[in-house]
Amino acid sequence: MNVTNRISRKLHVVTHGCQMNVYDSARMADVLRPLGYETVDSPAGADMVIMNTCHIREKAEEKVFSALGRLRVLKEESGGRMMIAVTGCVAQAESELILSRAPYVDLVVGPQAYHRLPELIARAHRTRGSVVDTDFPAAPKFDFLPEAAGHQGVIANLTIQEGCDKFCSFCVVPYTRGAEASRPAGSVLAEARRMAALGSREIVLLGQNVNAYHGAGADGAAWGLARLLDALAEIPGVRRLRYTTSHPADMDDELIAAHGRNPALMPFLHLPVQSGSDRMLAAMNRRHKADAFRRIVARLREVRPDMAFTSDFIVGHPGETDADFAATMALVRETGFALAYSFKYSPRPGTPAAALPQVDEAVKDARLQELQAELRRQQDAFNAATVGLTTPVLFTGAGRYEGQIAGRSLYAQPVVVESERLLTGEIHEVQIDFANPNSLLGSLQKERVAA
Ligand code: 5AD
Ligand code: SF4
Repeated sequence: MNVTNRISRKLHVVTHGCQMNVYDSARMADVLRPLGYETVDSPAGADMVIMNTCHIREKAEEKVFSALGRLRVLKEESGGRMMIAVTGCVAQAESELILSRAPYVDLVVGPQAYHRLPELIARAHRTRGSVVDTDFPAAPKFDFLPEAAGHQGVIANLTIQEGCDKFCSFCVVPYTRGAEASRPAGSVLAEARRMAALGSREIVLLGQNVNAYHGAGADGAAWGLARLLDALAEIPGVRRLRYTTSHPADMDDELIAAHGRNPALMPFLHLPVQSGSDRMLAAMNRRHKADAFRRIVARLREVRPDMAFTSDFIVGHPGETDADFAATMALVRETGFALAYSFKYSPRPGTPAAALPQVDEAVKDARLQELQAELRRQQDAFNAATVGLTTPVLFTGAGRYEGQIAGRSLYAQPVVVESERLLTGEIHEVQIDFANPNSLLGSLQKERVAA
């Protein structure tokens, strides 16, 4: 079978995990489009199904295998014609092991090899066997992947950095995504210009360690994230910028200053702290203390008083005592988060913490409940505090119900208003009338169009 023929084929992509995977899934569809693959919404009848996976916690991994079990049935119904590819971090981490648990999988492709998908598909067809490619090439995949082809919408993700050299005790990312690599500034700016020309108004810069960005500039010098954000803000049409995920140890003075001077930069930062105990932070190899996190928050609030924060927390990391957990609760109460994600520590094979004596499951459960109750209270309070305020909303398209349109606040909260016009891509002042747990309802302040 000659896969370079322009035959129409159906591609279904399932994405688990982080925004980086959402971005990678779109890039894989771009790579396969020249081969005739059109994306479809359902796996039934698809010629190729890609499961882009997440390995960060055990639950995420188990989800992959149960979804694969369901795909197996569809594959059998297709007489074996449907190809199944497992990509992402489970592919990288488990590699050949996936084939022993799910031998009907055709391709196992790590995040560094997506640009080789056409060649791997051809090889799988040719050999009628399974193909595994989880090598880490010397050159980062940025050098090979095509620029984003399609229009992502008013809000667009743009990967600028990949991988991580931090080696937190609990985390698989340095093993699955490899060493930290930054995309050259010129290539980021070119992609952002294209996105803006197609109608994107908000660009979310992605990277596992995005604030460690140090991409080569045209002048040969490495650009930090602050400089890149300043250059992105100059692009006509780019109205809003965000970046995620950051590490406290890389929040340098320049980046903090950028939050004060760059009006396109949203006053909202995802800054995982994981724990409020210095003893735990050391055990986690986090390279910063709890007070360093407090100082960053305070300095950002100084330069941008409307700044709000989200974070990640792990409870029950090996060695965590009641006193360590109390320090986490104290930090949470003191900081006040707009939103936060919290997880029970889950041992990941091959990471240092997995080999240590584990905290009792019931203790982990109790701590998680206590933390989540406080975080939920903070999230509700944050949303409730917006009621009555008038705030700029970037409209992204139609709402779920007739006559409604939807957009995002400065803090990425979904906002729904009634409007006869779609206003897609425009920013308008909205008075917030009501706060639901996960969205806000408001009314357009027609006479006051935001700058
Ligand atoms: N167990 C629990 N949570 C984890 N995370 C990463 N690895 C683990 C693990 N082994 C969480 C961290 C990270 C987020 C993306 O997932 O909080 O910031
Ligand atoms: Fe994982 Fe730590 Fe790197 Fe974040 S900084 S990706 S938690 S190793």
